[in-house]
Amino acid sequence: MTDPFGRTIDYLRISVTDRCNERCLYCMPEGYKGWAQKADHLSAEQLVAIAAAAARLGFRKFRLTGGEPLIRADFLDIARGIGALPGLHSLGVSTNGLKLAPLAADLARAGVRSVNVSLDALDPARYRRITGGDLAQVLAGIRAAQAENLFVKLNCVLMRGVNEEDYRPLIHLSAELGAPLRFIELMPLSSTDLLTEKNFLSVVELRRRLDAESPLEPLSDYRPGHGPARYWRDRATGAHLGFIGALTTSDFCASCNKLRLTADGKLRPCLGRHGELDLKAALASGSPEALESLLARAIAEKPENHEFTDNYQPARPMTAIGG
Ligand code: 5AD
Ligand code: SF4
Repeated sequence: MTDPFGRTIDYLRISVTDRCNERCLYCMPEGYKGWAQKADHLSAEQLVAIAAAAARLGFRKFRLTGGEPLIRADFLDIARGIGALPGLHSLGVSTNGLKLAPLAADLARAGVRSVNVSLDALDPARYRRITGGDLAQVLAGIRAAQAENLFVKLNCVLMRGVNEEDYRPLIHLSAELGAPLRFIELMPLSSTDLLTEKNFLSVVELRRRLDAESPLEPLSDYRPGHGPARYWRDRATGAHLGFIGALTTSDFCASCNKLRLTADGKLRPCLGRHGELDLKAALASGSPEALESLLARAIAEKPENHEFTDNYQPARPMTAIGG
């Protein structure tokens, strides 16, 4: 399906829970209490019904996100249901990696093909300070996923003065693992102490810095996983580096191909705008056509651009929208 700006929309990101077993500085406000009630979370059956309606409309790529998707007890049921949809092109998971080691084999069996793992630091103390989690567990998860032939990408959120010393070690790890590493600009998706101008580091500045230390060559046609990153290759190590500059890349939204579904059943045409469509009534009616028509409406309502640079004030934190 095509949106009003000629973009093909065939990618649905599905948040399966707003809960998380980490507390990233840019994500979770201190003492956050805005959790959805368990009863507001869609069931595995409902999530698969929405994905099936999307597949009938031409959606081919699905990604399960959160919060932390792997903490949902029936996660594998959801993955299996979506993994079996006709016409499916790719099924991925975005995770903090803490629970990846014990689950990697089950994920592969359920039809998951790729995992994006958040990895903001390689220094264990810094990793714990940023996320509250245990780095060794995440690294074991990454290796377990690769051992199951899952395609792994690493995500690092750029925070000036917080994790700058980790970028070079992360590039080396990326090269060693053969896993692309994506650097992501901080987005105003939550209200935490960290989300200030002072901590913002643009992908442009980072790329200039990296290029001055060790030349980067553009990989214009490389687009693993159909995400918004633009890629360069670090000549010295061979690492494939992606840059996600939602705030500073002027044509960032031109290649947008997705809709988001929140864990409590709202379709978001855009991560950086407030509009949402509620799917609960359509789900309750049990009518597959009603779901299809809401998905089509969300595509028709996609804005041309996000509002991040327009003093955007998030109404729900990232964890409640889905990464
Ligand atoms: N800015 C940029 N990236 C964010 N993520 C979560 N919150 C933010 C934010 N405010 C990232 C996570 C993860 C991905 C799903 O989104 O680190 O890698
Ligand atoms: Fe959890 Fe992801 Fe938010 Fe970190 S960014 S607290 S891992 S949902």
